[in-house]
Amino acid sequence: LANPFAPRAIAPFYAMEMAREAAGLAATGRSIVRFDVGQPQWGAPPAALAAAKAAMARDPLGYSDALGAAALRQALSDWYARTHRVEVPPGRIVITTGASGAFQLAFLALLADGDGAVMARPGYPPYRHILSALGFRAVEVDGAAEDGFQLTAALLERACDAHPRVAAAVLASPANPTGAILPAAALATLSQAAKARGVQLISDEIYHGLDPDGRAVTALRVEPDAIVINSFSKYWAMTGWRVGWLVAPERLIGPIERLAQNLTICPPAVSQAAALGALYADAWCAKRASVVAANRKAILAAAPALGLIPATPSDGAFYALLNISAYSSDSFGFCQRALAEAGVAMTPGIDFDPTRGKAWVRLAFARERAAVSDGLQRLGDWLAKANSDPME
Ligand SMILES: Cc1ncc(COP(=O)(O)O)c(C=O)c1O
Repeated sequence: LANPFAPRAIAPFYAMEMAREAAGLAATGRSIVRFDVGQPQWGAPPAALAAAKAAMARDPLGYSDALGAAALRQALSDWYARTHRVEVPPGRIVITTGASGAFQLAFLALLADGDGAVMARPGYPPYRHILSALGFRAVEVDGAAEDGFQLTAALLERACDAHPRVAAAVLASPANPTGAILPAAALATLSQAAKARGVQLISDEIYHGLDPDGRAVTALRVEPDAIVINSFSKYWAMTGWRVGWLVAPERLIGPIERLAQNLTICPPAVSQAAALGALYADAWCAKRASVVAANRKAILAAAPALGLIPATPSDGAFYALLNISAYSSDSFGFCQRALAEAGVAMTPGIDFDPTRGKAWVRLAFARERAAVSDGLQRLGDWLAKANSDPME
């Protein structure tokens, strides 16, 4: 009999393992260019810091409502009206401990034992790991390069035919690790297919605001009943503050509230105060988004000359997924050598797709321009050596 008390075995999140190794090397005094973990180098907007300081001076900062501070929920409702031209009542907005906390609440509120959620591969690894840690099934389907490796209506239908208990579909646009955007028309077709199959759409919109052409549309425009997950971690550069949110259909708010009350009581109060300040830092955030856009251009222009071919175009977020087949068929080993020999930290593609990812590395480039130039120079010098002394 299986031991019911055994910890659930899940795979590592290699981006975080690389981050630990890179930080460890940097702590010994080595200069490391960090293209590994997906977080902006610049930290929270000054308006967020000021709001946090004011809250610390003014408030006891006790528990908020389990669903989050009323002022922040209202401010996000206003933000949806202002930024996305959709009406989202504050009662449907739940503040969470990052998008990560939102996924846990959404899966637990939505899925029953034995249910699965479908998602495209390559994709953000914690989707499948959170599902399996919670005892649900991750149904992964292989995305096609020409679709930006995104989930499509056809892939969803095939997954539903093959797995009778698919209850949810998870998509991210722009996506991690590719930066690919699911065009509005494809999102609408996917949403219709999901509805027809009784599958709940979950749209991860954490990279909204970081698509220079503004093509990413919120799923709420297409399907008001979609679950939308977002966070202050990326556009607002507040990774360590652990604050995000979800928008859910009304019928799920009660179950989510009871889960939140018991799992975390509430999201961190000081982070909610900071997030409220961040929502009004549009000019500051837009400036950082333009640094990211310039980095994307520089990396996509330089990579092919280094023998690193984009696996699919990057439209947004701050990632490029590059093919390393000219050098290696072992992305994990390639990343370890690049870190040790060139002082460049990257994430191996096996994080996002255990099979095809052996041929890919992901570069995260929410960095100042100078760091990106330095990293490209180091990679170029290192790979030039590999050309005269092959890796395998
Ligand atoms: C696609 C995607 N979703 C969710 C998250 C988790 O973000 P948070 O810091 O808000 O928990 C990340 C973090 O990298 C991500 O890339």
